[in-house]
Amino acid sequence: MKVLVIGGGGREHALAWKLHGEGAEILAAPGNPGIAALGACLAASASDLDALVTIARRERVAFTMVGPEAPLAAGLVDRFRAEGLAAFGPTAAAAQVEASKRFSKEVMVEAGVPTARATTHTDVPSALRAAHALGAPVVIKASGLAAGKGVVVAMTMPEAEAAVRMMLEGNAFGAAGHEVLVEEFMEGEELSLFAICDGVRALPMICVQDHKRLLEGDRGPNTGGMGAYAPISIGTRAVVADAERRVFAPMLAAMAARGAPFTGLLYAGLMLTKDGARVVEFNCRFGDPETQAIMPLLDSALGPLLQAVAAGDGLAGAAPLKWRPSSSVCTVLASGGYPESSGSGVPIDLPEMPDGVLAFHAGTRRGADGRLETNGGRVLNIVATAPTLREAQSRSAEWAARVRFEGRQLRTDIGWRELARAGAS
Ligand code: AMP
Ligand code: GLY
Repeated sequence: MKVLVIGGGGREHALAWKLHGEGAEILAAPGNPGIAALGACLAASASDLDALVTIARRERVAFTMVGPEAPLAAGLVDRFRAEGLAAFGPTAAAAQVEASKRFSKEVMVEAGVPTARATTHTDVPSALRAAHALGAPVVIKASGLAAGKGVVVAMTMPEAEAAVRMMLEGNAFGAAGHEVLVEEFMEGEELSLFAICDGVRALPMICVQDHKRLLEGDRGPNTGGMGAYAPISIGTRAVVADAERRVFAPMLAAMAARGAPFTGLLYAGLMLTKDGARVVEFNCRFGDPETQAIMPLLDSALGPLLQAVAAGDGLAGAAPLKWRPSSSVCTVLASGGYPESSGSGVPIDLPEMPDGVLAFHAGTRRGADGRLETNGGRVLNIVATAPTLREAQSRSAEWAARVRFEGRQLRTDIGWRELARAGAS
């Protein structure tokens, strides 16, 4: 089976690694040096739909696996389907569940999915009135895609006002911020739960926890994610079953009723509040770096499920996914200056990883002399699996620290909340 993977980050490397391990032949566009070790990387950008269609047809791929949200929101899956090509992911209409927070919130409310109360505004006075009505802390969100940076959790009213003005008057996120959501603050611990969806059915994965802050102890600025681990003890089977019933099933039904059935990977960002799990956000694709942490734990074959959804055959009769009884920790290595800036051209010294440790590439490239160098904010993901989370954390941190490049940033505490829980019990 030949699979075309669109994208070139750590998530795409982890998916390509899993599919390659199942015997798939891997093509990627644009890929990265890690994926190049598994298959062929083609010089086409994820946004060049014409080039991607040409590649998929010429290479007679069984299906195309789309990693990032931007090509999905831009209609890659619609275009592929129109060309008679199988692609895993939602249509542009269904990708609105991530691309428009207003749309997402509307569908959640319509479907009765537990989530924070929110109102939508395009002018400053009405947004400020709504923020005052909710009181601090309050959450201000740009409605459109803002590369994960369009959310301000305002602890005070002046912060909320500054955020509203920055988005609506200061044009901080361009058109993505010309509509804002003023949202109730939810208290609790966050986790991510992914489900493979065929428009009707949802096949859930396991709960996994991302670490969005740059610095240890979850301090410092928000990033795309500095690490992730699984499994997570508070993400019990009951939490997953509850999310199937109260989150995924009603969402799929409401999306279908709107004429935008969701096919692909639906990512629920959940807040475990004292009243149960509530949705923080949906994404329309696999999470990064969560995917890197969970792929090594997935025992079931992934390729046939992705292909069934991509080809429109659906998931009827699919067995629940099986997971290895191990723990996994992904430590992200980021460039100096990240998240404000993203470096490139810095030489990387990447040692060979031992058994049980994987290096998934993200922002890397080969320099003129063939040497590995940085090519972006998040550079590499060092994923260790071990019988216990503590061992997985120490191996992941140890091997991440052995990867050297100038300005390197990393956290060595991925999974700390879970370890604190284990220590407390
Ligand atoms: P989002 O881009 O919607 O995932 O938001 C980014 C981050 O902001 C989330 O991961 C949460 O940590 C935080 N956040 C978003 N919405 C809320 C909310 N209603 N209550 C508390 N925290 C939130
Ligand atoms: N890890 C967060 C995301 O993929 O959006």
